[in-house]
Order: sequence, then C-alpha cells, then structure tokens
Amino acid sequence: MEFNKVICGNSDILLQEMLSNGITVDLVLTDPPYNLNKDFGNDSDKFPLEDFLKISKKRIELCRDLLKPTGSLIWFGIHHYIGFIQAIMYEVGLSYRRMNIWYYENGFSRSTTSPQTQYEPFLWFSKSPQKWVYNVDDVRIPYKSSERLKNPVYYKNSKGERVKWIPNPLGAMRGDVWSFPTLAGKLFKDEKTTHPTQKPESLITEIIKAYCPKNKEGFYNGIILDPFLGSGTLGVCCEKLNRQGHKIKWIGIELEKSWCDIANERLSKLK
Ligand SMILES: C[S@@+](CC[C@H](N)C(=O)[O-])C[C@H]1O[C@@H](n2cnc3c(N)ncnc32)[C@H](O)[C@@H]1O
Repeated sequence: MEFNKVICGNSDILLQEMLSNGITVDLVLTDPPYNLNKDFGNDSDKFPLEDFLKISKKRIELCRDLLKPTGSLIWFGIHHYIGFIQAIMYEVGLSYRRMNIWYYENGFSRSTTSPQTQYEPFLWFSKSPQKWVYNVDDVRIPYKSSERLKNPVYYKNSKGERVKWIPNPLGAMRGDVWSFPTLAGKLFKDEKTTHPTQKPESLITEIIKAYCPKNKEGFYNGIILDPFLGSGTLGVCCEKLNRQGHKIKWIGIELEKSWCDIANERLSKLK
C-alpha cells in the first residue's frame, strides 16, 4: 500500500486487503456516497436502501478494524439516512463521541416546497470508549464578543469553589457546528472541479487539525484514510499541511478513473 498517492480502485476490496496486510490507521476521514442518486460515473450512489445499509455496515466494520486503539472515524452523511448510519456505528461497537454539523449558508435549492438544506452531519465515533485524539487548541475560534472579556467572570467548579474564568488567548472552543461555505459560485472557481460533491479544503483541513495525532514537536504525524477520495480533497489538504512541515501519511482510494485523474492533477499543481 503506497502512502500519499491516489489509489485508483475499489475500497470494498482494498480495505479488506489492507486489513490482511496488517495496516492500521489513526483516522478514517471520509465522505462516502450518501445514496442520493448522484452521478459519480458509476452506480455507487444508487442502491436500494436495504443494500445501501448492508454495504455501509460492511464498510464501517472494515474501517473499525483498521483503526488503531486510539483511532477515530469521521463519516459524512446526509439527513435522510444519518440515523441509520449512526445506529450501525453503535451496533458494531464503536464509541459515540459527537454528531458534528457542517453548516453552510451558500447552498442552492431547486425546491420551494421544503426548507433549503444548509447542513450535512459528520459523525465522530472512536474505537475506544476511553482514548481518542482531539486537538482542542488547534481549532479554537475567535471570541464572538469582546464585552464579556473586559470584566472578570466567575463560576463555581465541581467542588463548589469560586473560580475566576480567564479567556483563552488562543480563542474560544470550537463548537460542534462547523461553519464553512460550500464551493458554490465564482468565489471558489479556482478550487472547484467537476466532481459533483467536492468538499471544501477549508472544512477538511480544519477536521484534520482537530483529529490528527501530533508528534512531540507539534507536527501532525498520523495516518489518515479516505476510502472515497473523489476529487482528492483529503490528499490535497494533507499535502498542503505537509508542505508546512507536518508529516501526515494519507491513503486515498477512489473507484472512478476520471476522479483519480482530477485528484492527481490537483496534487501535481501544489507547490
Ligand atoms: C461523496 S464523493 C467524495 C467526494 C470527496 N470528498 C471530494 O471532496 O471530492 C464519494 C466518492 O466515492 C467514490 N466511490 C464509490 N464507491 C467506491 C468504492 N467502492 N471504492 C472507492 N471509491 C468509491 C465515488 O466514485 C465518489 O467519487
């Protein structure tokens, strides 16, 4: 298995092979087909619901088995089916950590008979109920109001003691609603490819920062797997971080040759 290269193939076969070869990963960060009938150039998004759930369960089990003991699974989904996928994750013995929400305001809707979609959930489950990686300080966000920061704030800790709260100089803790625009419109024309469900690099980079293990020097050095690489976003984000001195190993698998070509083209353009 080659790291940091696009692997053009079927992850339903390759994940099994990885397992047989003893490969383990720190993080599965993936955006699999949502089963919404999208045209990826194959039929991978067009299963009867029962088959979709069976296939999803098999995939989740393989990913679970590939995870190191402190590893995590980040799995994007859609509001139609995320409940089923979450139930499967409990069923296969993964440990629930959070249903995160990717929130965007700049989506597009053809329908006027229901609310416009403004979010996609991404589930976080860990392999172990006790140990996982979450780099809280790497994904802090600016405090919304500086008013609160002017005067000291006091709270009672679990022992009932009065404690002074001091704002963190790195910013406020990120919440579980992650606000990043989709790649719609002219603003993102340089990033957007022809892939129908390409994720923004801004969002995927932030997720990597939150969940990738680091070495003692503070550089990300985990192994990240995306079995549904699409246009290569996960690889591009990892490589951009690696150019800043990080040492991420990534494994990206994509079924469709045309998307593999696009992913390779994006990677080849990186300086
Ligand atoms: C939702 S898209 C991923 C998009 C990606 N996050 C990006 O930013 O471009 C899912 C991708 O999974 C691919 N796919 C579907 N079944 C697959 C399989 N069995 N093995 C590998 N890739 C598969 C599809 O061709 C599609 O490109």
